Amino acid sequence: MATAVTAPPMDPKVSEFVATKQKLLINGKWVDAASGKTFPTYNPATGEVLANVAEGDREDIDRAVKAARAAFETGPWSQKLSPAQRAKLIWKLADLIEQHQEEFAQLESLDNGKPLKISRIADVPLTIENFRYFAGWATKIEGNTIPLTLANSSKFLAYTLREPVGVVGQIIPWNFPLLMAAWKLGPALAAGCTIVLKPAEQTPLSALRLGELIQEAGFPDGVVNIVPGYGETAGAALAAHPDVDKIAFTGSTEVGKLILQAAAGNLKKVSLELGGKSPNIILDDADLNAAVPGAASAIFFNHGQCCCAGSRLFVEEKVFDKVVEGVAQIAENIKVKPGFDPDCEMGPLVSEEQLNRVCGYLESGVREGAKTVAGGKRLGDRGYFVKPTVLVNTNDKMKVVKEEIFGPVVTATPFRDPKEIEARANDTIYGLAAGVWSRDIKKAHTIAAKLRAGTVWINCYNVFDPALPFGGYKQSGWGREMGHEVLEHYTEVKSVCASLT
Ligand code: NAI
Ligand code: MG
Repeated sequence: MATAVTAPPMDPKVSEFVATKQKLLINGKWVDAASGKTFPTYNPATGEVLANVAEGDREDIDRAVKAARAAFETGPWSQKLSPAQRAKLIWKLADLIEQHQEEFAQLESLDNGKPLKISRIADVPLTIENFRYFAGWATKIEGNTIPLTLANSSKFLAYTLREPVGVVGQIIPWNFPLLMAAWKLGPALAAGCTIVLKPAEQTPLSALRLGELIQEAGFPDGVVNIVPGYGETAGAALAAHPDVDKIAFTGSTEVGKLILQAAAGNLKKVSLELGGKSPNIILDDADLNAAVPGAASAIFFNHGQCCCAGSRLFVEEKVFDKVVEGVAQIAENIKVKPGFDPDCEMGPLVSEEQLNRVCGYLESGVREGAKTVAGGKRLGDRGYFVKPTVLVNTNDKMKVVKEEIFGPVVTATPFRDPKEIEARANDTIYGLAAGVWSRDIKKAHTIAAKLRAGTVWINCYNVFDPALPFGGYKQSGWGREMGHEVLEHYTEVKSVCASLT
């Protein structure tokens, strides 16, 4: 992957894309919103309007669901395409993204604020590989033959079929806009579902560009519909729609609960990937040359805007000062700049709302007695930049320790006894991820077993792979993304039992 040494000129296709009013993708056509309304998406590095996008609402969602239903029930997708043909289309989409990777990297950096060098080496390649991984699954979704326990097996032939769940609504967040679209679309397409995707209102652009490539790849009309809009309107309409069979959501725990209520109307299936307050535990026998930068990147990667961010750092007493000093030093040295700046290591937060939310937590931490050893405030007065922050003198009851901040803010506390740490690490409503750093594999695996979290990283953090399931215990969600596990959300099991007599 090329790394820029000078600020890149904006790709002409990207300049053109952001200058054009973006529309909704419904039934294979780019259309205006029924209301004719548009909404702005902002450049978080400047706070200025970046692009204008058609604002989908209830009526547009309804049209998109009708298109997805028709594509599912009667279109070529459901009737004529074999799994191998579906696989080919998904793989072709991955190839097209690869051909346009620089455009996607730039769009993502502009709309979300993240460093261009990160979207180049993380968001875009992970998106491509995710689609390729799920292209492979399209031909491998199988049922079983079942020997009945009560009947003589010569009298019955019983087997299961795995069928697509139907029309799927997918609502995604703004922290990894393109990758979250890929996590959702990949398995749904592999399973043979049809989709209405609602990107986050803060970052709709990369999903819309993806829509153009979905068209170019040759997916039949109505298989993927993309309707940007606000959560309270377009999102809520999708979650409540009576003809949607399943809703997949990634975002806040608060909205996850609203999705669940909205889904109750027709008992649509629900999968949720929600918030976190993940513990990252460093034992005194850890390799600190790895653990210290590991702890910093666990929280500061993507500006802390990760559901699995290692936001509660627990360090064994003997090495506490050394670790905190090391993480604070890294925090102070991180170059916080606009994402397009070639020196940028951390960009702005995504929005003014997030800036205010994160700064509110910084104030509440200090008010409750925490001490700031790095960062602690906003940077400059243009754009939504916050200094990477390390807080100490915290206790487990403080808001900054209990609540998801979703910004570059870590709380660090010492512990004396590794046995005490499991209960403290689990003392949260969340259970998405955790980290353990130790040279002693027995200790590390023993702690990993006790942690109530969907992912435990040992001597690493934020390692993602399309083959590795990801999701939450407790209020971090329902179900798993990725791996073969995610296919359960997008398939129904049918038992077929035939008498042979
Ligand atoms: P959010 O949960 O409101 O937004 C996520 C998605 O849900 C967006 O597409 C939004 O339009 C949609 N949405 C919002 N309200 C909805 C509703 N009533 N019905 C259907 N869809 C709805 O998250 P927001 O407000 O952007 O961020 C707030 C906090 O949520 C963050 O500070 C962070 O703590 C958490 N969050 C967690 C994420 C994760 O990856 N688990 C991602 C984004 C935010
Ligand atoms: Mg919200």
